[in-house]
Amino acid sequence: MKKIVVLISGQGLNLQAIIDACAGGFVPAQISAVISNKADAFGLQRAKSAGISTQVFLRRDYADNVAMDAAIGDYIQSLQADFIILAGYMKILTPAFIRRFEGRIVNVHPSLLPKYPGLDTYRRAMAAGETEHGTTVHFVNEEVDGGAVIVQAKVPIFPDDDVEDVEERVKAQEIQLYPLVIKWLAQDRLTCLDGRAYLDHQILPENGYATE
Ligand code: GRF
Repeated sequence: MKKIVVLISGQGLNLQAIIDACAGGFVPAQISAVISNKADAFGLQRAKSAGISTQVFLRRDYADNVAMDAAIGDYIQSLQADFIILAGYMKILTPAFIRRFEGRIVNVHPSLLPKYPGLDTYRRAMAAGETEHGTTVHFVNEEVDGGAVIVQAKVPIFPDDDVEDVEERVKAQEIQLYPLVIKWLAQDRLTCLDGRAYLDHQILPENGYATE
């Protein structure tokens, strides 16, 4: 069985979906640890309730980001984790960390990448008058929110929506999509090669597996 670690900073709705999917057997993987850069991340409680080890790494305990990521990397290596799952980890990982675990880190980002990388995607999409938004699960490379897309899901933005409405719609998609992607990883069906994602040895389209 593959081992994964999940990195979080907050609520942990995606984490909860991953915990449930592993516990229920949908994802054939074991969560070795949940790692947070925030001591008060609610996701840490979710991990504890599920009997999963937690580890907090605080930036103030390290000289710089490189030192912090080296410590996180050493911990992950000590667990012999196969994949690193970013689930609302709100700190940019250093290039050295990304190179160390090349092709083994995935992230979920709440936009239809390459549109709206970075923060505050809902407000920006709505301010731009978009009629649809969505979420992307992608491999992580050194460019923020820039790695090979694995899968996307679209949701509508209706005229009377506020940010919370769209966010709720997006999160409902994320908690379905992310466990599915982690299942593929755990089954050795999903790989990243030369900046493109492959599922069952087939190259995925630029916008991922489920674009429409
Ligand atoms: C998710 O919406 C994800 O797209 C983004 O951060 C959010 C994390 O939410 N990267 P949660 O902690 O899983 O509830």
